[in-house]
Amino acid sequence: MIKFDNVTKTLGGKAVLAGLSFEIKKGETFVIVGPSGTGKSVTLKHMVRLLTPDEGDVYVDGENISTASGHELEHLRERFGYLFQGGALLAWMSIAENVALPLLEKTDMACEKIDERVHNVLEMVGLADDANKQPSEISGGMRKRAGLARAIVRDPDIVLYDEPTSGLDPVTARTIDSLIERMQQETNITSVVVTHDLHSALSIGNRIALLQGGNFLQVGTAEDFLNSENEEVQAFLESQFITKRGSWERKQK
Ligand SMILES: Nc1ncnc2c1ncn2[C@@H]1O[C@H](COP(=O)(O)OP(=O)(O)OP(=O)(O)O)[C@@H](O)[C@H]1O
Ligand SMILES: [Mg+2]
Repeated sequence: MIKFDNVTKTLGGKAVLAGLSFEIKKGETFVIVGPSGTGKSVTLKHMVRLLTPDEGDVYVDGENISTASGHELEHLRERFGYLFQGGALLAWMSIAENVALPLLEKTDMACEKIDERVHNVLEMVGLADDANKQPSEISGGMRKRAGLARAIVRDPDIVLYDEPTSGLDPVTARTIDSLIERMQQETNITSVVVTHDLHSALSIGNRIALLQGGNFLQVGTAEDFLNSENEEVQAFLESQFITKRGSWERKQK
């Protein structure tokens, strides 16, 4: 579904991505973890050509997005939902208006249909009663959920989540995890999740990738991570109070 082939990107004099290659399958939840500033957001941005590789290629369904024409690129981008780090809601619009925006801009759906769809996704994320509030009137966790509603409102094939649970209390964070899991189960959506939250990564990821030093140090299942003999992987797990082998039990589905 998404393929990186030997992608290199230097930013601010630093080789952020150094020959990164991987492939994400349709219907998969692929989680990217790693220390701050390693290039997780940069990796996501390459998937929708907000950034382009210095060398190497990025493919979406076999189509090289670096060489896509304006029209093709627009078409490719329409298949994505993007939850930006920080939420990025427009302050002067209500929650419902923010969520309706992609439908107003990108579709010719009738107003009643838009209202219905917006109501449904707000219900999904537990914000149906807050539809008419302004972003400044709701909490950080609610803003994240509103951003999530906006990312999925057009029923995309692929959703990119940049730090969906950061800054949230553990209970709200788990609600977001459940939403991501539920969408995968119900709609077979492909999700790429960037997170600092290893508990979240281990419970929702079909595969998890640890980005460090411009490349993936390890890509594998939660079990692969917990059983990894790699010292850097272990150090990363321990930094989040997850000790080797078995102190974390993967949620049984
Ligand atoms: N547009 C840009 N111009 C210059 N440097 C950039 C740009 N975007 C990112 N960088 C640099 O690239 C590196 C990786 O940034 P990125 O935002 O991908 O980190 P991250 O892994 O998402 O970190 P965090 O966990 O803090 O969000 C950083 O050193 C950052 O300063
Ligand atoms: Mg980031």
